[in-house]
Amino acid sequence: MNVKNCHIITLPVFPDGDDGKLTFAEGLRTIPFEIKRVYYIYDLEKPDAIRGKHAHKKLEQAIFCVNGSYTIGLDDGHNKEELFIDKPNKGVYLGTGLWHTMTNFSKDCVLLVMASDYYYESDYIRDYDQFLKFINSK
Ligand code: TYD
Repeated sequence: MNVKNCHIITLPVFPDGDDGKLTFAEGLRTIPFEIKRVYYIYDLEKPDAIRGKHAHKKLEQAIFCVNGSYTIGLDDGHNKEELFIDKPNKGVYLGTGLWHTMTNFSKDCVLLVMASDYYYESDYIRDYDQFLKFINSK
């Protein structure tokens, strides 16, 4: 990937024929940080729904689409990339200082996010110009 501070995470899948599949994630193993919080996003009924549109100063996250599909836009302040995600075991590690935007949700899309810390609004950068200033001050 051209974009810094992020990478694809591929979790193991245990197929069990008609009895389904099992996938698991482990902190400090497949997820490169200790997981302190989990949240999920669902009922994305609106075709033009947009989530994200922010970066974090310190928070690390791993985002999975456990049902359906969506597109994630990644921007490190220099390079941009869009990824279409439609597999429950294919996630994206979101490091610090990474502007991310989620769009193109299927109606049945469920996003599961693992985070390295509790929710603190002060960790968010919600203004794109502030984000560029943050990147360039490092
Ligand atoms: P936000 O992270 O802005 O959502 P998204 O990036 O998906 O668009 O979160 C929306 C609101 O939800 C935020 O203003 C406060 C609340 N919130 C919490 O209280 N705790 C949490 O762990 C998260 C992720 C959000």
